[in-house]
Amino acid sequence: MYSSKCKVQGSGLILLRVLVGLVCLAEAQNKLELQDMDGGFPSLDSMLQWAVGHSDPEKLKAAAVEFQRLSPEELEKRRVEIKDLMEDLRMPSDAELMKIAIADINNSSLSTEDHSRALHELLELVGPIDNANDLNKLGGLTAIIQELNREEKELRTIAAWVLGKSSNNNPVVQKQIIELNVLPELMGMVKSSCSEEAVKALYAVSAIIRNNPDGQAVFYSEGGAHMLQDIMSNDSSDIRLRRKSVFLVADLAEQQFELEASGATRIFEASKEYLNSVVDLTAVPDLDTQEKALVALSRLLQLSDKNVQILRDFGQLELALERLRLQIRELMLDENQGDFLRDIEAQRQEVEFMLHKKL
Ligand SMILES: *[C@@H]1O[C@H](CO)[C@@H](O)[C@H](O)[C@H]1NC(C)=O
Ligand SMILES: *[C@@H]1O[C@H](CO)[C@@H](O)[C@H](O)[C@H]1NC(C)=O
Ligand SMILES: *[C@@H]1O[C@H](CO)[C@@H](O)[C@H](O)[C@H]1NC(C)=O
Repeated sequence: MYSSKCKVQGSGLILLRVLVGLVCLAEAQNKLELQDMDGGFPSLDSMLQWAVGHSDPEKLKAAAVEFQRLSPEELEKRRVEIKDLMEDLRMPSDAELMKIAIADINNSSLSTEDHSRALHELLELVGPIDNANDLNKLGGLTAIIQELNREEKELRTIAAWVLGKSSNNNPVVQKQIIELNVLPELMGMVKSSCSEEAVKALYAVSAIIRNNPDGQAVFYSEGGAHMLQDIMSNDSSDIRLRRKSVFLVADLAEQQFELEASGATRIFEASKEYLNSVVDLTAVPDLDTQEKALVALSRLLQLSDKNVQILRDFGQLELALERLRLQIRELMLDENQGDFLRDIEAQRQEVEFMLHKKL
């Protein structure tokens, strides 16, 4: 998983010498004065065990005999050598691995494969929140954002993925990315003809603006609502994109409801077309997406009486709910997913109830 620059796979001979040296020193001094290893092997024991497992016992014995003949001065010299070797053997820390990956991403003379490998390494490394928080300090965000402009769509795709993963549930990184003004570019990538790129870009956009009013303000001012509407109402869009879009719609409606409940002014008013594109998704042949569309609709109905009025006047939702009722009833007869279907039916009834509530 980690870069080939990791030095632990050193030669067995070096390890042998370290091991024998350590054993002899322990005998000579009855105590090992070793530096705190700071990452690397968790303990000296584990390093010795590892070394023994990778060494030839015969050579080990011979070396031990040789070491016993050393004078105190020679032993001291060995001790220093061993200390240096141990420094080299140390496993690099996450921050060091991130620096290496970032330097590679930032190096334009390296090949596409090297960039791809380095981006994949970062993708693994930014999982823990502390690492994600270090990314900007190490110059990582700027380097990754540059990759969004690459000709190779594979690189653009992973770069968007890394940005999404780093900002997921992380207000610090969300803020940094918003300040670097990269949302418009990611939103442009959502329209890519390559669905993998579009999916990862939408993942990133969603992660950056979730629970983040500043990010949402940028999102709406850059035409985010239209973007979602176009995806949801387009039968040829990748189903993953449509599902992610309606999921984001539900998320945004819920957060808007909470913000308004605590006194914030309305930041976005859904249009008839926007609402209708969500209704359209209740009819796609994918139960997961249909369920998410129902969740989004109940939140939109909860959000404002105006949404209720539009959905009533237009009449499409009424028809869609009836179609869905029949579909669920039919599936119940011959499919083995009763619980999921019952959940969807409950969700459907909630939407029906909210549609007919008193205004
Ligand atoms: C970029 O990579 C090349 C090839 O490995 C290397 O020679 C060069 O030193 C690197 N540049 C920087 C700034 O690290
Ligand atoms: C990236 O490269 C530029 C110039 O090539 C350099 O100024 C900058 O410090 C580098 N950033 C990192 C994080 O290596
Ligand atoms: C619908 O999506 C397809 C596939 O992504 C795209 O080629 C087409 O232009 C879209 N249609 C509209 C009207 O946006």
